[in-house]
Amino acid sequence: MSGGPTVAAWLREATARLAPLVGPEEARRDLRLLLADATGWSAARLAASGPDPLPAEALARADSHLARRMAREPVSQILGRWHFFGRDFRVTRDVLTPRPDTEALVARALAEPFLRVADLGTGSGILAVTLLAERPEATGLATDISQAALAIARENADRHGVADRLAFARGDWWAAVPEGARFDLIVSNPPYIAEAELATLAPEVAGHEPRLALTPGGDGLSAYAAILAGAMRHLAPGGRLAVEIGAGQGAAVSALFSAAGLEAVGIDPDLTGRERVVHGRRGADAP
Ligand SMILES: C[S@@+](CC[C@H](N)C(=O)[O-])C[C@H]1O[C@@H](n2cnc3c(N)ncnc32)[C@H](O)[C@@H]1O
Repeated sequence: MSGGPTVAAWLREATARLAPLVGPEEARRDLRLLLADATGWSAARLAASGPDPLPAEALARADSHLARRMAREPVSQILGRWHFFGRDFRVTRDVLTPRPDTEALVARALAEPFLRVADLGTGSGILAVTLLAERPEATGLATDISQAALAIARENADRHGVADRLAFARGDWWAAVPEGARFDLIVSNPPYIAEAELATLAPEVAGHEPRLALTPGGDGLSAYAAILAGAMRHLAPGGRLAVEIGAGQGAAVSALFSAAGLEAVGIDPDLTGRERVVHGRRGADAP
């Protein structure tokens, strides 16, 4: 793009280039976010600046953002941050971008009190960090098999002032959790996409998010089986387990909960009405 366009002209030209790839609505929304970042201006100032020329540095940054977006990089990774449950989290290509659907899991987790929480497969740390930020009396353990993801989760714990209450451990599901550790609440948003579905995902997801965060391979259910295999051992009596699920997995994951001995098994919808969270609890009289 040549130098010196107005804000309105840049947005018009950029939209004409991006819309054929991602659709007009997404293009307009993305470009406003990218231009706000490139200029450092608020959305309100940007909206009022249509006739103003873009400063040269902002123009260079905006053009670079546009080129990355045209290569189907997600906006979250271009900005290096994304919003979740009222907070901004650092995001890189080493972690899954926080999804609004996952707020249903936070809502379920916060529905009852807890003091000790474990977040298995923490990624950017959104679940553990949000839950500790919302419950200042709680402490937690966040695990992941990816060292790079754990580094981002630590950064996010620092950013939101919960690092002194959150421990981190690397490993394959329960292998990261000390034997004998018991939690009032265990949450997980594990990889759950069936391997065969990977080919159908948008380039922003398939080409830019970690494969480890998307699929456990096979039919997409093996991470739930691994989590359920150790859940009763690591839940305190009366403790709760809540996991995010993918489309159509409600019955299969609920059956795994019941087979593992969990009680009061239920399914919550997300904001769009789709089954999104399976939850259950360990009996209060368990040893
Ligand atoms: C769907 S992402 C969720 C990340 C984050 N909790 C969120 O909700 O945005 C799944 C996470 O599980 C981690 N993971 C995948 N396989 C794992 C395993 N075998 N053990 C522990 N974590 C694993 C991935 O590295 C990834 O960070």
